[in-house]
Amino acid sequence: MGPRGRGLYVGRRAAAAGAALLLALLLALLVLAALYGRCRREEAPPPSLRAPGPAAPPPPAAAAGSVRRLPRHLLPLHYDLELWPRVRPGQAGPFAFSGQVNITVRCLRDTGAAVLHSSGLRSHGAAAVRGPLSEPGAAVEVAELRHDQEGEVAVLELRGRLRAGHLYVLQLGFQGRLEEGLDGLFLSRYTDQGQSSMLIASQMEPTYARRVYPCFDEPAMKATFNIRIIHNPSYVALSNMPAIDVSEVKDENGSLWTVTTFNTSLKMSTYLTAFVICDFNYVTRTERGNEIRIWARKEAIKNGYVDYALNITGSIFAFLEDILNVSYPLPKTDLVAVPGFGAGGMENWGLIIFQEAALMNLPSEEFTIRKAMIASVVSHELGHQWFGNLVTMNWWNDLWLNEGLASYFEYLGATFVEPKLPLDKIFYAHIVQPVLREDSEIARSLSESEDKINGSFSLMSLFDNITYSKGASITWMLSGFLTEKLFLKALTSYLKEFSFSNANQDDLWTHIQMVVDAQDEVQLPAPIKQIMDSWTCQNGFPVLTLNLTTGTVRQEQFFNKNNRKSTDSYNNTWIIPISWMRNGSSQPLTWLDKSSKMFPEMQVSESEYDWILLNVNLSGYYRVNYDQINLKRLARLLENDPKAIPAVSRFQLIDDVFALTDFGYVPIETALELTKYLAREDELFIWNMVLLNLIPDNLESTLKNHEVYPLLKKYLLKRMLPIYHYYAGFIPQNVDALEDDYFAQAYLEKFMATACWLGLQDCLDLSSELFAKWRENPEYKIPLLIRRTVYCYGVAVGSDKEWNFAWEMYNHTDSDEEDEDILLYAMSCAKESWLLHR
Ligand code: BES
Ligand code: ZN
Repeated sequence: MGPRGRGLYVGRRAAAAGAALLLALLLALLVLAALYGRCRREEAPPPSLRAPGPAAPPPPAAAAGSVRRLPRHLLPLHYDLELWPRVRPGQAGPFAFSGQVNITVRCLRDTGAAVLHSSGLRSHGAAAVRGPLSEPGAAVEVAELRHDQEGEVAVLELRGRLRAGHLYVLQLGFQGRLEEGLDGLFLSRYTDQGQSSMLIASQMEPTYARRVYPCFDEPAMKATFNIRIIHNPSYVALSNMPAIDVSEVKDENGSLWTVTTFNTSLKMSTYLTAFVICDFNYVTRTERGNEIRIWARKEAIKNGYVDYALNITGSIFAFLEDILNVSYPLPKTDLVAVPGFGAGGMENWGLIIFQEAALMNLPSEEFTIRKAMIASVVSHELGHQWFGNLVTMNWWNDLWLNEGLASYFEYLGATFVEPKLPLDKIFYAHIVQPVLREDSEIARSLSESEDKINGSFSLMSLFDNITYSKGASITWMLSGFLTEKLFLKALTSYLKEFSFSNANQDDLWTHIQMVVDAQDEVQLPAPIKQIMDSWTCQNGFPVLTLNLTTGTVRQEQFFNKNNRKSTDSYNNTWIIPISWMRNGSSQPLTWLDKSSKMFPEMQVSESEYDWILLNVNLSGYYRVNYDQINLKRLARLLENDPKAIPAVSRFQLIDDVFALTDFGYVPIETALELTKYLAREDELFIWNMVLLNLIPDNLESTLKNHEVYPLLKKYLLKRMLPIYHYYAGFIPQNVDALEDDYFAQAYLEKFMATACWLGLQDCLDLSSELFAKWRENPEYKIPLLIRRTVYCYGVAVGSDKEWNFAWEMYNHTDSDEEDEDILLYAMSCAKESWLLHR
């Protein structure tokens, strides 16, 4: 499991590059050449190179073993769990852990065998079954304990039968290997204050709890836990609940160990149990009776690296409690920054674990983007304390109820603590747009059928952009048409009903319906289940095709017409909320609930100035294909008064039309019509999308040598100049002024790199000037915001002197890892091939 790109936190889910097929793009760009021919007659041309961009999404993580379901004979009620990792500081491996689990179960159906999950564990001592508990001293003899490694289950064959309606205790001793890994119980090595150290931590989701202790490892099999950890006296042990006792025990050799006992947990799923054994320090604060501690390497605590995280955690907790109107039920929350942790964050109830980079910042780092990333990871994991921990999906097919909702609250929480963040733009640019790009190619729906997630199905494959980003986008749409007030009211009712228990998406729909039925301000065209199932149970999403002369709006599934016969299409229909605007004024929300419908109110007149805009403020998860008349009017409006269209809608409009071009709905000329106004576009997030569409990262080198390059260069540079000069004006003296400009921090470097790649002389001059300044005084720091671009073009336009300097700095002991990486990349930017071959 590894973090993937997405959202503010460049972690699990992938940032979409939006690159289309190579061939299609080359063809499209040839058309651009033709168009440019037309443009050239109209206007005088401006002046040329390349840009670094977001990495392509990594392949999905490997399968997490089997998802074999357990028989329903036994229901776990309570676990008494002791874990003893045999690790002493400074000791060399291999390491092991041992443990004992006593599970109280209720028998629901008579059975002669107890089946539970267990993977990679060996028995330690004899297994036993006590009970029925109503008969003191009673026991059922165990005939055999079998481990089915492939099925990841342990089977206790019994000589007697367990009888329905009675309680029993399954008693199992076990042993496992403790390795440097990323899941189950694992060891992590790191350095702190110049010393090498190690810690033990856990990662159970989705199905690694069974690698740590035999258990009923399904999200709906909730139980309470009494946990005890035996560890070296110099370490501290943490788990979901507060420690209530610390005592000592001697092992078989007479050496002392510490026993930390934790309070009984609330009813919870096994995948949320957690353990950390470490030699960390912490900072703490109490918010509404919840003791929050942030644990990290001592050095990091001393230097204040987690102070920002501590500052925001309490406020986000309070914010979530207030909007959800359900209080956080635990008395404490530990947040631990684990070096080398595999995920960005993991929401274990009361013991949230993070990757260091997701929780730490330098106190001197005032940059919004870093704080925004920490705020978003923390908000996401705190969101799970309600969606996931308090109420858990019944089965993994509804994972979006966890991850989609947490991803939605991630954005609300982050903007609550960092109000300067432009929420709607970030949400559209990081969540909606990338997943719309992916969702048309992926054959899966947000909510899968339960039976499908069985056998050898890879649960890890469910932790993808569909679950996270489509889940969050659909939630955004839902909250939009319901109004936030009703939506939150329904969530409160849903959370209250299913606390300490499980739910599926129909349960959510039921609670929304109850709230909708109890008022008359918001009227829906159909039951909420019918509306929402059309989004969560069908693959993909719709595109609306407009004929505004007649006022007809038609929907069809958005699909790649280049990939299939034009007759081949889907019959899916969605119930679509349409927020719209006419000539700048918002119109009442309307609905398209069949494949095609007439909206007389949307007809446009002959006037050039009469225009319509749909899906305003990202209210819906779909694309819009306008007719030529309206598009011309919108293009003209953009040229005359771009701000007449809200920024998010400008983004949508242009991204939709490029997507329509890629998929063979409209010719490239149509897309380019909408880019003509760009000289007046001052939003970097829109520019970033345009450049991704016109110069996809994977096509940069191909384009550079293609006949279309000079045309692209002239077309773009002329339009990029105003915004280029605006931002270049802050560099080098005044970059601090961009401290609150989230998108400058996210996209300026790439934008500058594209300007240089296109050969903008000012950009090349600026790079060599700053590079020279650094060469004269190696103490001088080129602003981080554009360092990558400056290093690269400093070397690219320079000679061997610049290259040698980069090499020298690369080998300099002071340079940090990030700088080394940038320098390595910069050296590859050299133009002279003899330099590259050195
Ligand atoms: N529950 C996940 C962690 C997880 C992911 C466990 C996949 C098992 C498999 C956690 O809440 C999460 O989504 N973490 C994200 C970061 C978050 C800010 C989106 C991650 O680790 O990338
Ligand atoms: Zn999550």
